[in-house]
Amino acid sequence: MTTSTLSFSLTKVEESRIHEIDWENLAFGKSFSDHMFLMDYKNGEWQKGTIMPFQPIPMHPAMSAIHYGQSIFEGLKAYKTIDGKVSIFRPNMNAKRFAESAERMCMPAVPTEIFLEAIRQLVELDKNWVTDKPGFSLYIRPFLFATDEFVGIKPAETYKFMVITSPVGVYYNEPVRVKIEENYTRASKGGVGRAKAAGNYGASLYPAKQCQLQGFHQLIWTDAVEHKYIEESGTMNVMFQIGGTLITPSEDSDTILRGVTKKSVIEIAHKWGIPVEERKVSVEEIISAARNGTLEDAFGVGTAATIAQIAVIGYRDELLNLPSLETRTISNKIKSYMDAIKTGKEKDEMGWNLIV
Ligand code: COI
Repeated sequence: MTTSTLSFSLTKVEESRIHEIDWENLAFGKSFSDHMFLMDYKNGEWQKGTIMPFQPIPMHPAMSAIHYGQSIFEGLKAYKTIDGKVSIFRPNMNAKRFAESAERMCMPAVPTEIFLEAIRQLVELDKNWVTDKPGFSLYIRPFLFATDEFVGIKPAETYKFMVITSPVGVYYNEPVRVKIEENYTRASKGGVGRAKAAGNYGASLYPAKQCQLQGFHQLIWTDAVEHKYIEESGTMNVMFQIGGTLITPSEDSDTILRGVTKKSVIEIAHKWGIPVEERKVSVEEIISAARNGTLEDAFGVGTAATIAQIAVIGYRDELLNLPSLETRTISNKIKSYMDAIKTGKEKDEMGWNLIV
């Protein structure tokens, strides 16, 4: 994959902060690399982008994003390859989804070329922050938010597109315990569930906290109407394996995020001849399979955790234990293969990596 060169203005840090990082105790999303990208939208057009030292940004108290939630984001990762290069996993898919989220939230899309080039130049400048420690990567967080200084409600006329990056290790250090949620809802038909809108994540915090108090890591979200069909798991898409077939809720519904990791898992499964069904997945089907021992695997798929295998599903008063991790041949194999593509140990036959 190649991108053309776009010129942004650049101010470099005088001294890197990388020596401050405690790599052995790295919490997800708490440390940030030396530089960030910022580009303003005003007078109906994008202004010149800037790469500058990572720093706080001034904020007007009436800034529209904090009042009315015109705010979207993306998440992707850069990896160190075995030949010492840095590769970014499928950024063009994030660019597309970012533009789709922007449209749904009535915001100006960031042109794909600018999105990709901002990320590429930022990661290139901070490439020392991409470590080759196994399981580590540089998490890239592009985001777009409304900046009108106005408490009237209407689509804003001014925005900021920013990219920050954060060195990260593994997201979950154990297989996850999830609870099927039959009361709260993540998204409803006609809503914004498909968009990576900040408010979707804000609204999920209270239900997630309730399940965490009960000893679970996350929820399995079900449909808003009947709570009979499975949609996502926590902040991830979700996949199941029954009788050797991978099953995942289809994206036909506008309540489900179009996951890059999920799509990659499906593409690998197709390549290897593993049957995949993208369709409505009922709670009843998954619970019956878990009860009668035919649920071979279940896992969340997302950028932050990649593949998070599920150890326990809570359903009403029941706790259903899933098979031990060693038996999860498909998810184990796909995870290792995806990691190997990202780090250059396997040939990138599908052209997924953007080499910086
Ligand atoms: C992801 O894994 O794709 C996420 O969006 C997680 C993020 C909310 C930390």
